[in-house]
Amino acid sequence: MKQEVRGIPLSSPYLGEREEELVLEVLRSGRLSLGPTIDRFEELFAEAVGAPFAAAVSSGTAGLHLLCVTAGISAGDEVITSPYSFAASANCFIYEGGVPVFADIDARTLNLDPAAVEAAVTPRTKAIVAVDIYGYPCELDELRAIADRHGLAFIQDSCEALGARYKEARLGSHGPGAVFAFYPNKQLTTGEGGIVTTHSEEEWRLLRSLRNQGRGDDGGWLEHVRLGFNYRIDDVRAALGIGQLERLDEILRLRGEVAARYGELLREIDGVEIPCADDEDHVRSWFVYVVKLPSNESRERVIAHFEREGIGFNRYLPSIHLQPYMRERYGFREGLCPVSEDVSARTMALPFFTGLEPEAQERVAEALAAAL
Ligand SMILES: Cc1ncc(COP(=O)(O)O)c(C=O)c1O
Repeated sequence: MKQEVRGIPLSSPYLGEREEELVLEVLRSGRLSLGPTIDRFEELFAEAVGAPFAAAVSSGTAGLHLLCVTAGISAGDEVITSPYSFAASANCFIYEGGVPVFADIDARTLNLDPAAVEAAVTPRTKAIVAVDIYGYPCELDELRAIADRHGLAFIQDSCEALGARYKEARLGSHGPGAVFAFYPNKQLTTGEGGIVTTHSEEEWRLLRSLRNQGRGDDGGWLEHVRLGFNYRIDDVRAALGIGQLERLDEILRLRGEVAARYGELLREIDGVEIPCADDEDHVRSWFVYVVKLPSNESRERVIAHFEREGIGFNRYLPSIHLQPYMRERYGFREGLCPVSEDVSARTMALPFFTGLEPEAQERVAEALAAAL
């Protein structure tokens, strides 16, 4: 029992009475799906990130898949993405028959290295899926320039990066289709859910049709004009999203404060490398707090200590190409992306969420120092 009281979770959603009120309103309205709350959520979200259009979906993965469909990715097309990401960054195009090509990452930002992406382009390359890992904006202009030069589609996986800024503008506002995700560990949660932002009205209409079983704008419930999916979000979750959006700025500020406190506490600990700092062009939106340790061995020592202390952790993130299904399906092995593999062996997520208490953070820092 004592351990439970002293435990510090890895993550925890930040919800209040406003969310309860908005969800209750929807429950009492009887419009549980395909209702006006979804439209409202989309409008408010688009406004918050500075995109002209947004289409809400059932998950970030669903949103990425839909952008792969609208990009026309089909069997045998190569798609370049980051190995240091969540599996969905690659799965989204594999669903359409795309073939994963992993380009290595930059050791400082942990995002795709544009030179490695350029080197990975072949005549069969169809698209680039760029990830803003841990809320740090990728090298958007360089990567888009590569895509433009080779005539490739460009998809931005911003699932972890709501509120991040690239060259002073929020992600979602720059032009390429971008996807944000709302699982409970994210900056904004709807339980499950995601959203696609686009600057094309035509693509937006297509996304709305694709998520809704391929129904057309004007046809009836039983008319399907294309092959679609059931990737709809519902109004209950959209209401939750509206409540969270209303205090997005507060959420981002509080998360920034938690991250800054970790920065102070961990800076002095030998062997702990904290996440890279912002610069003029890149302003992170804090999603998780991932530190780099000297080796896999030291990471396991820290983990054993955290387990004894009841402190949450995760071995964020394994390299996608070395996941069992990837090895089996494509024969990927160690050595394909050395930077990503080295980082995967040494990185670790610490407890991090909106409103995490300073005392808890001090305990995490003490545990880290003691284990190292
Ligand atoms: C980088 C990245 N891409 C895609 C996803 C998929 O989002 P979802 O879990 O909502 O399908 C996530 C979510 O964890 C993610 O972190």
